Order: sequence, then structure tokens, then C-alpha cells
Amino acid sequence: MGDYLLKAEKLFGVIGHPIGHSMSPAIHNDQFQHQGLPYFYHAFDVDSLDLKHAIEGMKRLGVSGFNVTVPHKVEVMQYLDDIEDDAQTIGAVNTVVSQDGRLIGYNTDGKGYLTSLLQTVGEKLHDNRVLVIGAGGAARAVITALNNYGVKQLAVTNRTPSKAETIKDRVNPTMRIMEMNEAKDKLDQFDVIINTTSVGMPPQQDNVPLEVTALKDNALLSDLIYNPLETKWLQQGKSYGAQTLNGIGMFVGQGAVAFELWTGIWPDTERMTEVVLDQLR
Ligand code: ATR
Repeated sequence: MGDYLLKAEKLFGVIGHPIGHSMSPAIHNDQFQHQGLPYFYHAFDVDSLDLKHAIEGMKRLGVSGFNVTVPHKVEVMQYLDDIEDDAQTIGAVNTVVSQDGRLIGYNTDGKGYLTSLLQTVGEKLHDNRVLVIGAGGAARAVITALNNYGVKQLAVTNRTPSKAETIKDRVNPTMRIMEMNEAKDKLDQFDVIINTTSVGMPPQQDNVPLEVTALKDNALLSDLIYNPLETKWLQQGKSYGAQTLNGIGMFVGQGAVAFELWTGIWPDTERMTEVVLDQLR
């Protein structure tokens, strides 16, 4: 890595707080080397109070692009020069591209998730009924991507129904909003069920977002969580015969779409996945 650093012609990075456990430097630096690009990616720990100055610094120092993670995905928007349409709809930015000295905000979470879902389900996704559990930032990204792609039915359920209603107003007024109890009773109407909530992640690792009682044949249960690799909910789904998809694909997918925005090259996502699995082991 030493020689490589000396030759780096472009700098990329991620800003967040805390940032120590981010796997983004590992996937991007490995991919830069793999593609023969003399670039380097660094994790910047930025406190909320310093966000404005940090963004200004990124611009003035000529950083070529960066990811934005918790807790800055919404706040960062006010400091950018332009925001792409999807990021505007989602109301959050996770990727910034520096173009002729202007910082442009994108959101690659939804597209990243869709890429991973399509690799699993294929184009028949168009004919699928899809239920999204949750209405936070991750849900907005996933729902926007699914709505742009076009599925047979898109339904959302959330502990706080008003948040799901807000997404419906923002993304697509024909979307179906369900109470959690109704969704639980009608789970077997859906081909794809996606958990976007934090239920299943420590300290909520022993809970499930929605109790599985019956599923359609060939249903797919998908969780955005990747640590643990298999949440209790995915285990429950498996016991009902469902195919499952954990959150590694979304993490790799969002990184891949960002990498392409920065370099124009679609990265080797299998290799990125291996890097993530190595970090988790
Ligand atoms: P993110 O950006 O990761 O999506 P978020 O915006 O804080 O995070 O959203 C968290 C989501 O998880 C929300 O849908 C939240 O439900 P509420 O809108 O009702 O708060 C959901 N969530 C978190 N803990 C939950 C729990 N114990 N039971 C049900 N839903 C939960």
C-alpha cells in the first residue's frame, strides 16, 4: 500500500461519525488497485458541528468525490451545489461527485439495493408484489428505486404510519400503505418482503420486524442488515421455505454505483463482496 499511496492522483473518501468500522475504504481501495487506478480512499471522522467546514475543505482541497454516511446524509445537502433528482426525492445524499469544482449530491443506496435484488430475482421483479417494512431514510431510498423500476404492486408498512403516508405523498400516490397488523396477516400476498428497519441489528438482534406466520410459495425475504449476516427474521423466513437476501448486496451495490459515478467504470462486485466478507469474518 505504501508505494501505491505515493502515486495516488485522486483522493476519495467517506465522511461520518463514528467512521472507524466503515468497510468503504477497503472495498474502494481494493477496487482502485484491481482496476489499475492510482486513486486513494480515506475515512474522515467528521463531527456534525464541523460538517459545513469539512465540506468546504473537501471542495477547496480538490477531493474528487466522497461518500456520506450516518449522521450526515440529510444535513450535507444544504452545503452542496446541486442535488440529483433521486437524492432530492429520497431527501438524503450518500455520494458526492466533484465536477469542475462543483459538488453534486447523489443517492446510490436505492440503485445499489435494486442491483442486488435484480441479481437475485431477475427481471420478473416487474411482475412482483413487493412489501417494504419501515419508512426511514433507507426505506425512502429502496422505495424510490423500486418505484422508478416499476413493480406490480408496492406496499409500505411502518410502526409509525404517518411516515409511510409521507413517503406515499412524495414518491407515488398510488402506493399501498398498510398497518403493521394488516401487513402481518397478508404477508402471503407478497413475492418480495424487505426489512429496512433497524430491528434485527444489535441491540435489537433478538427481535423481528414483523412476525412471519405464512408466506407465498417462492417468496423472497430481504433484509438490509448485513451484521449479523443472517438476522432472526431471515432465519424465520427460511423456516417457512423463503429464499433470503441479506444486506451485503445493498452495501456493495451502493459502493459500486458510487464507484461508477466517480470513475466511469462498473467495478467487480464479486470481488467487493469478498472484501466485505473478509472484513466481517
Ligand atoms: P434509516 O436511515 O436506517 O432508515 P431511520 O430513518 O431512523 O433509519 O428509520 C428507522 C426505521 O426503523 C423506521 O421505519 C422505524 O420506525 P418508526 O418510523 O416507527 O420510528 C423503524 N424502527 C426502528 N426500531 C423499530 C422497532 N423497534 N419496531 C418497529 N420499527 C422500528
